[in-house]
Amino acid sequence: MGGRLGILRRVLAAGAVAAAVITVVAVRPATSPAQTCAPTKPDALGPFYIPGAPERERTGRGLVVTGSVRSATGCRPLSGAQIEWWSAGSSGDYDDAHRATQRTDAQGRYRYETDFPGKYPGRPPHLHLRVTAPGHRALVTQIYPTPGQTAVDTDLVLVVN
Ligand SMILES: [Fe+2]
Repeated sequence: MGGRLGILRRVLAAGAVAAAVITVVAVRPATSPAQTCAPTKPDALGPFYIPGAPERERTGRGLVVTGSVRSATGCRPLSGAQIEWWSAGSSGDYDDAHRATQRTDAQGRYRYETDFPGKYPGRPPHLHLRVTAPGHRALVTQIYPTPGQTAVDTDLVLVVN
């Protein structure tokens, strides 16, 4: 009888271990610090960047860009990250009317509205942006809306320093 009880105890113990393993495996993806987001691909700064653009979330109408700024390590949203924007106006020339600086909200989100970028010799229409956040490498990249597009949703993922 004692032997049968011993077996029962061992079976129960094995079950408890299995349950614990299942719990750890199930919980791990949400908590693992190894989780990563693919960093946003950098692109050319170009010759028209000017620091210190006015703080604003709109420099035109018709093209709305939204998303989150995130850390590549852990995909953590970065609140207070700075995004600087510049693009060509409808004439195809860069002008101060299409420059802006904004910060992400408490959830790391941003929303920027501008005019569809004007024709620019030898290149598809594009918006320039530079994103900075403490503890992360500055990201300089470009967004390429297709003609007729009115909304772009894209996360901007920064590499940890
Ligand atoms: Fe450009």
